[in-house]
Amino acid sequence: MKVTVVGAGNVGATAANVLATKGFASEVVLIDIKEGLSEGKAMDIMQTAHMLNFNTKVTGVTNDYAATAGSHVIIITSGIPRKPGMSREDLIGVNAGIVGGVMNSCLEHSPEAIFIIVSNPMDAMTYLALKNSKLPRNRILGQGGMLDSSRFRYFLSKALQKAGYNATPTDVDGMVIGGHSDKTMVPLVSLATYKGIPVTQLLSQELITEAVEQTKVGGATLTKLLGTSAWYAPGAAAASMVEAIALDANKLIPSCVYLDGEYGEKDLCIGVPVILGKNGLEKIVELKLEGDEKAKFDESVAAARETNSRLGDALKA
Ligand code: LAC
Repeated sequence: MKVTVVGAGNVGATAANVLATKGFASEVVLIDIKEGLSEGKAMDIMQTAHMLNFNTKVTGVTNDYAATAGSHVIIITSGIPRKPGMSREDLIGVNAGIVGGVMNSCLEHSPEAIFIIVSNPMDAMTYLALKNSKLPRNRILGQGGMLDSSRFRYFLSKALQKAGYNATPTDVDGMVIGGHSDKTMVPLVSLATYKGIPVTQLLSQELITEAVEQTKVGGATLTKLLGTSAWYAPGAAAASMVEAIALDANKLIPSCVYLDGEYGEKDLCIGVPVILGKNGLEKIVELKLEGDEKAKFDESVAAARETNSRLGDALKA
């Protein structure tokens, strides 16, 4: 299994590093436009191979797409990250051009690849990648739900600690759907549990609201702290999606996919729970959304459509 990671910035390099340490890929190619960056990061990762005991071969190249030929899965992280005070949507103009070009170069050498889009605004970039490439929807996935759900579990574990429970993020189950956007992502409180117990039975409304709000601005909080967007969790999230595909694990992972009637929506890419396996998207899981959660999902859909409408000329007719 060969995996390409486009963009050797923080997120791309972290994804390559996690992929290498997990060891299921025989080869990971890191590619970037910046001379020497991929080569350096790949060499650095390879120098951990002995210590971390992995056999994955990680190589780095500058803009040489021929080296990515025959990739099974391609993660696209290219483009600019946000700076403090920016929303993901602010990046649309610059990143749309970059993602479009990268998709074409990748497909030239890996016509069968499955794509995982990480570049922001991710839902719009996933839509753009799908529309411009005309690939079947099972091969174009966006990474957002895995990351946001992981952040939700983290913040719920903190809330549970405040309420007196010795909770860790792995003790908590929880899912975020909708757009990967500060304002409109939808942490599903009604389905969140701690050791099988609904968190609504253990946490005050105030603590729940706090965890939800912290989750929604999880990326912005880190951007403020770091001066650029986060990378450990986004990189690990993309690598987990690759793992589910590579191992044909048929794992349920919330991901951004093209809806064609599911959730009552068409012609839109947005985060919903899906099963990931060897074909990429194997199945969309339709949840029965009710009340406030349904209203919030609808708001998220409207916001994602509005962002897509700003793709302009980047979107081929
Ligand atoms: C985040 C960016 C990478 O949420 O989208 O951290």
